[in-house]
Amino acid sequence: IAIAEEQMQSKPTISDSSKMESITDILHQLFHTAICAAFPDITDPPVVIAVAASNPKFGDYQCNSAMPIANIYKQSGKKVTPRNLAQKILDNLPSHPMVEKCEIAGPGFINIFLNRDYAVKKLQAIFQNGVQPPTVERKKIIIDFSSPNIAKEMHVGHLRSTIIGETIARLLEFLNFEVHRINHIGDWGTQFGMLIAHLQDRFPDHLEKMPPISDLQSFYKEAKERFDEDEEFKKRAYDSVVKLQSFEPKHIKAWKLICDVSRKEFQKIYDRLDITLKERGESFYQTRTEKIVKELEEAGFLENDDGRKIMWGDESTTVPFTIVKSDGGFTYDSSDMAAIKHRLQEEKADWVIYVVDSGQATHFQILFACAKKAGILDPKKHRVDFVGFGVVLGEDKKKFKTRSGDSIRLVDLLDKGLEKALDKLKEKGRDKVLTPDELKRAQESVAYGCIKYADLSHNRNHEYIFSFDKMLEDKGNTAVYLLYAFTRIRSIARTANFTPEKIKELSKKENISLEHEKEWKLGKVLLRFPDEILKTLNDLYPHHICEYVYEIATTFTEFYDSCYCVEKDSSGDIVKVNYGRILLAEATAMIMEKCFHILGLKPVEKM
Ligand code: ARG
Repeated sequence: IAIAEEQMQSKPTISDSSKMESITDILHQLFHTAICAAFPDITDPPVVIAVAASNPKFGDYQCNSAMPIANIYKQSGKKVTPRNLAQKILDNLPSHPMVEKCEIAGPGFINIFLNRDYAVKKLQAIFQNGVQPPTVERKKIIIDFSSPNIAKEMHVGHLRSTIIGETIARLLEFLNFEVHRINHIGDWGTQFGMLIAHLQDRFPDHLEKMPPISDLQSFYKEAKERFDEDEEFKKRAYDSVVKLQSFEPKHIKAWKLICDVSRKEFQKIYDRLDITLKERGESFYQTRTEKIVKELEEAGFLENDDGRKIMWGDESTTVPFTIVKSDGGFTYDSSDMAAIKHRLQEEKADWVIYVVDSGQATHFQILFACAKKAGILDPKKHRVDFVGFGVVLGEDKKKFKTRSGDSIRLVDLLDKGLEKALDKLKEKGRDKVLTPDELKRAQESVAYGCIKYADLSHNRNHEYIFSFDKMLEDKGNTAVYLLYAFTRIRSIARTANFTPEKIKELSKKENISLEHEKEWKLGKVLLRFPDEILKTLNDLYPHHICEYVYEIATTFTEFYDSCYCVEKDSSGDIVKVNYGRILLAEATAMIMEKCFHILGLKPVEKM
């Protein structure tokens, strides 16, 4: 029983010394205990913990509960002063190795000072165990992302979903969840009717010989034109859909052929961006959709609306789902109903995440409401999230298009990124210092890194302006700045002839140095790592991690500007190595590296 109980605990365990812990969680628990003991007459008292503002005089963290508690007493007619309440809280505060001392300031703030030995011990653990995640309750998670449509273009919206989804998946995997990355591709819509009919006309021998349709998009365009103009063709297209959806073998074969062409194109993008996904498209749910439609009908959830069968969600939704069209066909709505049922009930996922553009927010609101109504989704047991994001704009602030008004092909965009990244590296004269191989690696790291980072560093709810010039700047919160900063930090140890293995050895004898004001400032930023990870886990906004890693880089610069790590004499010979600072620099690099991994950035040794 003891083991089971321990596994059930979702709160980080306090005693595990081999890991960095969430400082705010620990403070929250300590102050919760103190406040409940000090004020037993208040039910559910407010526990307010914050990181202290930059002036170290005011401590490292703060507890700001005394003021709201004073208000509660005032409302019930009791006269109290927040300063006295703050004192009562401190009188009841359990001791903890993390907390050095507390002081009351101003009207009743409690300033909390962290213990530096504790900080040294926690950071030191990184060298033996690597950067470890905070402990959370293990869950099975399905994350649905990327999800382009066959034969239609994979556009920048899908690129955003791909980048954001990959990062969230990496974050969840780092936290040791069981993560299933699902590519819910559109491979079963009515578009296949006209595609198959057109394929039959253009390449009558397609069943024997692979037709040359590498450019599926123009093939799609041709089919669409005929569909819109030719009544006879339109009728055949409809017939083809019906045959496909009843699994007629020749139609299935043609359909597979078309899907394969698209699949190869998608895979090129995924390979270049280092994205992993398991394909499970809409077609996968066809028989399950038939089944769930019947179930919904029998349970009386469907309403007839002019020949369509619709289903209403709850009060929060104002449009219904179309479960069956008037021609009897299924829809995007019905296949999503089948998919959510499959995920929650067959796969038994605890948590399902959908990374899709904000234009589909309503669709998912209705999906969740209908799934609840049908008893598929149990809010007490399941968590579902719609992770939306805004549109991508061009530098003219209009929809991101080519000059001729066509949408931009992702492959072209990635090629352009490579080209611009190389220009940037040449501009800095790097082509003269790096070997061709190193240059190529730096180019790819910068190109793909900057595209991902520009996307991830913006609040995903906002639209964002795609600009290579902006994302390739080497100042400010950009991938280029961070990748350079990282390379520089790693090179510090290298100039003092320290390999990662030697540093690990060193860490057994020497401690990270946190004495100097700037060392301590950097150390405290590093200690926030678990909190930043948990914050992002909570709201699924990857820009928190970008802001955090940027703060690490700028705080490191401050430290490095005032603290020597390696002292050299005028002839460039090393006269003194400050081991504690070498360790601090290495811990910084290791935490940055972990953040980079989550963000999909690939640092290189030299750039
Ligand atoms: N294929 C859809 C689109 O391009 C996105 C699918 C998202 N996932 C889902 N389960 N509906 O708009």
